[in-house]
Amino acid sequence: MEAETQDALIAALRLQLDWGVDEALEAEPQDRAVRAPERVEAPAARAPSPAPAALRAQPQLLPASVAGTRAQALAAGADSLPALREAMAQFEGSPLKETAMNLVFADGVAESGLMFIGEAPGADEDRLGRPFVGVSGQLLDRMLASVGLSRERDFYITNILPFRPPGNRTPTDAEIALFLPFILRHIELARPRLLVLLGGVSAKALLRSREGITRLRGRWHQVTINEGQALPALATLHPAYLLRTPSAKREAWNDLLMLRRRIDGTD
Ligand code: URA
Repeated sequence: MEAETQDALIAALRLQLDWGVDEALEAEPQDRAVRAPERVEAPAARAPSPAPAALRAQPQLLPASVAGTRAQALAAGADSLPALREAMAQFEGSPLKETAMNLVFADGVAESGLMFIGEAPGADEDRLGRPFVGVSGQLLDRMLASVGLSRERDFYITNILPFRPPGNRTPTDAEIALFLPFILRHIELARPRLLVLLGGVSAKALLRSREGITRLRGRWHQVTINEGQALPALATLHPAYLLRTPSAKREAWNDLLMLRRRIDGTD
């Protein structure tokens, strides 16, 4: 490719980034400038334009009124972690599935007895289909390594939402409520002894609390999984927040020491 053409393409891509574009929703680009005149034709003269292939192939989204019931039924019907993963992949109740590249289910050792729960996948997680693999996940891994915990051996990790919200926006209350049956079933099937809730979205959703993470963190709470079953859960700061606010690392470190003491039975 000519150097000039390459420079022009890179400049065009940078401009897209400046404008806030950070993902491609369709496999083929659309030249909106060429398509524009079509829109001013009289409706009678316009032939119905076929839907793009990617859209035609997609199943219908469930109406919101039935999506919650469907999520509960799918979650309750899953009797193993692979079955739950499959049930979540089948779930057609959220538009997040249409914009995400991958379902992000979980990583680490399900049988470890220690389960971390974050908010939602980011761009790297969406691309790779694994939770906490981007910069905040790498920080989390380094912090946990400093208290002797490794993802390959000592813990299991997932998120409240299995699909990336476009542009990494904060999940809405409705999205959190919709996916709650799946995460509760996920916890039930993984059967951890301890939970760690990473950040405000995870802590508020699972503790059913309106308090912010700065008030919830640094304490052991109880997460009610189903009638008659509750698990100890430590709320702590999200690693993405620590990247933005390095001075908060001291608090996160104290939380990790609390976790270590609980694991060692010395608290
Ligand atoms: N943030 C999260 O909450 N989860 C991820 O998987 C990545 C970033």
